[in-house]
Amino acid sequence: MWQPPERIKHERPVAIQPTVAEAAAARLFQPIAIGPRTARTRTWIPAMVPWRATEDGFVTPDVIAWYRRFAEGKPGVLVVEATGIRDIPSGPLLRIGHDRFVDGLSELARAVREGSEGETLLFIQLIDFLSIRRRPPRDKYFARFLAVTERHRERLFALRGHTLPEDEVALRAELAKLTDAELREVLTARELEDLERGYRERVTDMHLPHVAELPRVLPGLFADAAERAMAAGFDGVELHYAHAYTMASFLSALNTRDDGYGGPREQRVRLPREVLAAVQARVAGRGVVGCRYLSDDVIEGGNRVEDAAWFGVELARAGIDFLSISKGGKFEDAKAPKVGWSAYPYTGQSGYECMPTIYSDARGPFGRNAPLAARIRGDVRAAGFATPVVAAGGVCEFDQAEALLERGEADLVASARQSLADPDWFAKIRAGRGDEIRRCEYTNYCEALDQQHKQVTCKLWDRVDLDEPGAALASDGKRRLLPPRWRRAP
Ligand SMILES: Cc1cc2nc3c(=O)[nH]c(=O)nc-3n(C[C@H](O)[C@H](O)[C@H](O)COP(=O)(O)O)c2cc1C
Ligand code: SF4
Repeated sequence: MWQPPERIKHERPVAIQPTVAEAAAARLFQPIAIGPRTARTRTWIPAMVPWRATEDGFVTPDVIAWYRRFAEGKPGVLVVEATGIRDIPSGPLLRIGHDRFVDGLSELARAVREGSEGETLLFIQLIDFLSIRRRPPRDKYFARFLAVTERHRERLFALRGHTLPEDEVALRAELAKLTDAELREVLTARELEDLERGYRERVTDMHLPHVAELPRVLPGLFADAAERAMAAGFDGVELHYAHAYTMASFLSALNTRDDGYGGPREQRVRLPREVLAAVQARVAGRGVVGCRYLSDDVIEGGNRVEDAAWFGVELARAGIDFLSISKGGKFEDAKAPKVGWSAYPYTGQSGYECMPTIYSDARGPFGRNAPLAARIRGDVRAAGFATPVVAAGGVCEFDQAEALLERGEADLVASARQSLADPDWFAKIRAGRGDEIRRCEYTNYCEALDQQHKQVTCKLWDRVDLDEPGAALASDGKRRLLPPRWRRAP
């Protein structure tokens, strides 16, 4: 992963633990209405893909055990990982694109209700994404993938200065022999990217019929998925408008579609609004409908917080139930993957800003993105909307979360990695046992596992008590899949 050049190592904030009475009176543990539901506290575990679904997207016993374990810590809101809304093969990503997925998801929802004793609201993150392929071996790219055009012949002729073979196979072989510098002359930027990173579709690929028709199909697909979430017993849905995926790409300033769904902000927000309206119509007040989106794309030419604040107001105007704020996580600045691997959107600077580590610039990773959430919330409030705003990014400590709420930077506080390190951390604070919290080290071992699509675990607990009876192990046989139970110190 990219790291700020300063590479300043930051210490975690000093943890001052409240007493039971102080915690009970804290803002963090007060209820808040989110659309038609009420969260019992302002604690939130955002979506995290743990790679435990089957290859065809079904819920497994490991998925259920994972979410039950988080539910036992009784967060106010728990969001199930990004779940695909289409009925297409998506590797071991959880899916909700057909009714056959509902039974497994119902079981998951039941487990969370039981685990939290009904105290946690359960949402599911609904995602659409475009096609991406692995980086091809060079010979394969030139032999099979590159669509040879007149431009290639002309540029090659200019370089070589002699007649080129008529035969396409021979011409491809000539192209394959070019040096990297020569390739930059002959290939378009997009072709070069396909070679060096693997082919990736964009929302601006209007020549592809299935991309051109996204505005026609996506509202229905999201609404059908939301319907299934309701049938499975979820309290709500989180529309994934963040990171490297389809809906965030519609919002992005890089979206230059010329069909009324790209260009100025008003048109970039059109599909997100149409998807929201379709989902709201289908859910019809039976559950919460919110979204996660970016406070800043952190890529050249992408959205900045001014865009995000404007979108926040528009989505609030459209009656969205919450705005969960993330940052970055884009393909555009991702590192080139190894041959045979796919690009991963959390390897560049935008990825760093999404999941900042302790190796940082002067600002450091802790609460790093809260000012951006604050700016969005400020504009939403100034426009007259009370829509709850959720902030995330390096929140790992009671005082820090409480101060964030006190300053009005957000209405709920999301903690991903701290909750992965210790799903009981909210419960420990409330019980006056804050000193028993296993504190996240923010060095992203978990994120590296995610990158390789390996079952996600935390380095602080995955080798502990491996011989505990009933402890399920990862497929490598070396790591436990769930954090050990909280055994209260006497
Ligand atoms: C292993 C892992 C998987 C993640 N998967 C998702 C996801 O499915 N959807 C999403 O919106 N964010 C995802 N994230 C980002 C987190 O929700 C969160 O925004 C980010 O980790 C920053 O919060 P933190 O500093 O509290 O960890 C993931 C993060 C991690 C570490
Ligand atoms: S693996 Fe590291 S960064 Fe991830 S949750 Fe555990 S301590 Fe935190």
